[in-house]
Amino acid sequence: MKKILFVTSEAHPLIKTGGLADVCGSLPKALAELSQDIKLIIPNYQALKTSENVRFMCAIRVDNRNINILETRMPDSHVIVWLVDYPAYYNYPGNPYVDEQGDSWPNNAERFGLFCRIAVEAAMDRINQDWKPDVVHCNDWQSGLVPALLSLENDRPSTLFTIHNMAYQGLFPATAAAKLNIPGQLWHPAGLEFHDMLSFIKGGLVYADYITTVSPTYAHEIQTAEFGYGLEGLLDHRKEFLGGIINGIDLDQWDAENDTLIAQTYSVSTLDKKELNKAALQVKFALPVNDQVPILGLIGRLVEQKGIDLILECLPEMMEMDMQFVLLGSGDKDFEKQLKKLALLYPDKIAITIGYDEALAHLIEAGADIFLMPSRFEPCGLNQMYSQRYGTIPIVRKTGGLADTVTDTLPETLANQTASGVVFSEASSSALLEAIKRTLILYSMPDYWKKMQINAMKKDFSWQRSAEQYLSLYENI
Ligand code: ADP
Ligand code: GLC
Repeated sequence: MKKILFVTSEAHPLIKTGGLADVCGSLPKALAELSQDIKLIIPNYQALKTSENVRFMCAIRVDNRNINILETRMPDSHVIVWLVDYPAYYNYPGNPYVDEQGDSWPNNAERFGLFCRIAVEAAMDRINQDWKPDVVHCNDWQSGLVPALLSLENDRPSTLFTIHNMAYQGLFPATAAAKLNIPGQLWHPAGLEFHDMLSFIKGGLVYADYITTVSPTYAHEIQTAEFGYGLEGLLDHRKEFLGGIINGIDLDQWDAENDTLIAQTYSVSTLDKKELNKAALQVKFALPVNDQVPILGLIGRLVEQKGIDLILECLPEMMEMDMQFVLLGSGDKDFEKQLKKLALLYPDKIAITIGYDEALAHLIEAGADIFLMPSRFEPCGLNQMYSQRYGTIPIVRKTGGLADTVTDTLPETLANQTASGVVFSEASSSALLEAIKRTLILYSMPDYWKKMQINAMKKDFSWQRSAEQYLSLYENI
């Protein structure tokens, strides 16, 4: 049995802004089910919600500040959670990274710098809990200073750093390094310095004993200039210690057969009932209720990564086809504005909800026929896996985890029963439009469509296999 300290800035259902929370909520649970002794450490944000009891565990003094550590557990699991409680940094409305207006917290370097310091204290058992982990598993830039600071300690635990998204690196002006008292041994271009800036992510990439990312394809992609954002050289240099482990999905939450947030549960053997969710979705979005017209759905952060610009370019032409389009998301204000404008032009065909709504996300997965995910890059992506589980055929671009989890529909993949979606390559609106047309042809052939749905629903996206891969990695490092 390994003792694992899991360091993350979000974990569902405590706090979530995206897929990082889904993974950091469900992977620790899967590891606990494999009998591992795992504790999760996370800042105690104002927006953090738990149904479990929270108790004071200890107080420590770091950087001349008094910090409390509270203890709770993940709802419906045995995973212990340590909350880093420092109200001056975390007790504000808004999400972990931005305020209510969507602007980054001006003191993010200090906020996550302190979080990393506390995680190091916990990792070295200087919080006197008589519990010292064998492995510290860090996730994304917010935890990047942990492997760096631990590298200076004697008798330290091993460190694993998982990259969920290279596009977010935690870059701050060099003055932040002084403010955070970054030790001189770490402050150089082969360390935390990146073009005269302090880079949190480099703390993970340079100093962790091993690096993973969330799909094998993305592990290769980030070693190239297109996806490496200037860090491809470093990643290539560390490639012996870099691998990809595909994310799983939490079947307690995302399974059409026992989802409490949808209008009607269904399975491979009761696939006809999916239609009731389609009708509920059309009612919810005030679209004409019609079971013949295909619904294309999209849920996600409205940012360039997700190929929203490609969809905006395609929408006028899509509106000439027989279809309905529903979207739930928030992000770039300009994308939001353009989408809302189009929805006003085509009220019978386009329905847009700007915002964040967990229940509606489930209904879209269950009620749509087709799910759009034309990402420019996608480290793993979860929605395409949820979609397949719900018999909702994904259209994806061949990149990162999308390439690893969706099998294109071709005569041979239909024959060998692996066809589960539609995959296109070029990041262009014409390639996306072509893929949509191809999907609509398949939709018009119910026998083929049903086969694709069944192949998709039968795919194994459970955490078990991936959690076992993490476990053997913990053993090897
Ligand atoms: P990313 O982490 O890059 O945003 P993923 O596909 O890995 O993308 O995960 C996104 C997660 O966030 C999914 O669980 C998705 O359902 C959820 N999500 C994204 N936007 C919204 C929204 N507006 N409302 C509800 N859930 C959302
Ligand atoms: C990131 C990526 C997404 C991935 C998620 C969880 O947010 O953008 O592709 O699925 O992390 O690993």
